[in-house]
Amino acid sequence: MNKQYEEIDIKRIADFHSTLSQCPIHLFGLKREDKGDYVFTHSSGTMYDALGVANKPAPGTKLNELHSKELVSNWTPQIEKAFSGETQTADIEVANQKIRTTLYPVTGENRVIGTSYMLPLHDQTESIRDNKFRQLFDHALEAIVLCRSNLEIAEVNERACELLELPRDELVGRNAGTFFMKNGKEIIKKKWKEVMYGNKISGEFRYRTPAGYLKEIEYTCEKDMVDHLHVTILKDVTDQKITEQKLLKAETLNVVGELAAGVAHEIRNPLTSLKGFVQLIQNQTDDFDQYLSIILSEVDRIEHIIKEFLVLSKSNSQNFKESCIDAIIKDTVDLLNTQAIMKNIEISTGFENEIPLIFCDPMQLKQVFINFIKNAIEASSDGNKVDVNIKWCPDTNYVQIQICDYGCGMEESVLKKIGKPFFTTKDEGTGLGLMVSNNIIKHHNGKLDVQSEKGIGTKFIISLPVNQQN
Ligand SMILES: Nc1ncnc2c1ncn2[C@@H]1O[C@H](COP(=O)(O)OP(=O)(O)O)[C@@H](O)[C@H]1O
Ligand SMILES: [Mg+2]
Repeated sequence: MNKQYEEIDIKRIADFHSTLSQCPIHLFGLKREDKGDYVFTHSSGTMYDALGVANKPAPGTKLNELHSKELVSNWTPQIEKAFSGETQTADIEVANQKIRTTLYPVTGENRVIGTSYMLPLHDQTESIRDNKFRQLFDHALEAIVLCRSNLEIAEVNERACELLELPRDELVGRNAGTFFMKNGKEIIKKKWKEVMYGNKISGEFRYRTPAGYLKEIEYTCEKDMVDHLHVTILKDVTDQKITEQKLLKAETLNVVGELAAGVAHEIRNPLTSLKGFVQLIQNQTDDFDQYLSIILSEVDRIEHIIKEFLVLSKSNSQNFKESCIDAIIKDTVDLLNTQAIMKNIEISTGFENEIPLIFCDPMQLKQVFINFIKNAIEASSDGNKVDVNIKWCPDTNYVQIQICDYGCGMEESVLKKIGKPFFTTKDEGTGLGLMVSNNIIKHHNGKLDVQSEKGIGTKFIISLPVNQQN
């Protein structure tokens, strides 16, 4: 005969069970009525909440009101044995979950006290590990993540670890919602409910890898593919997205470039007549001469910028020639000044006298300086300065162009990655500027150095050889 329990033991049994497993438990009392019905005398615990079952057994509820006939008849032999004084364990299924129940007879009464808890789902993942499909799961070409109903990751395969760039033990046990950035977390919570209703869902999210790269990931989830585990398949679509975005951007730039070139062209004609008439007035009277000179020099400046713009919009082939590097820098600064002024940033230039000519492709170098100065402006805060200096080092016969900002600077970890394709810390960045610039500098047999300190600023130093014939 097994030991029989007093009702005061309920608490102790409950404590025991909750230390045995982290699972939600259900503690209940059952009595047998004259007609043979089993009726709950009390009920407590969080198991039904965890199962998402709305009907919880209130005292007085009959067992067969709560559970199906089939379940009750499967359970009856053990319940009867418990009433006859033997502690019993029985496994039943509630809301598609395996539940282990233990029934303890109560001394001298027609009552039993029971505890039940959900069998840890872990056991079921274990079974995946053991069964012959495990290998298939592990070596599948798709990245597969198995989630529990509460979005906790139960298992991942090797491809998923590769895709998310995290080891298995850092993924298992983690809430899948944490991989979604910003409002993605809320969206997935809502969508996940759909999965629980049995609908297949799919979508995309942006994921930042531990190394700081952004990946675009496509996902599809389906309920209960394996033993109450919900399957999510992930696919890295970064390259596809980047190509799409680049095509779109190139197309937009093309159209905008053409339009702008057209507009620039149109502006040149009225400017020419404006200039002509101002000169005419100047010849006829000495009045307002000071103002008229200012008008003329400003018109010249507009003409110069437009000319630059038109040349830049037409250039794509290589064209190496002896060029004056300070003129190239001046033109670039002229182009970017408007953007700088909008951010209240002053670009100041300092040139040494007699910088020698350089054998280069001026259009390509302009592209390089635009990239660096644009980065400097983007890193700067309102009111900062950007210094652009050119030096000639006769010893080495190199011309050095320094672009120095006093903006956000870079951490060591960022510094290591700049210039790699698609590495960017900006929401709207492409992560291509430095890579393209570096290639052009290499093409000119030049060198690129960078010094940067977080919160202090950044200095890029471009060194280009003089007398270099490619
Ligand atoms: N002057 C600078 N100050 C701070 N960070 C910079 C600077 N220049 C480049 N960076 C960093 O290098 C990254 C890559 O730059 P780039 O290749 O031009 O791409 P993008 O500007 O599109 O992000 C930037 O996202 C930024 O983190
Ligand atoms: Mg850039």
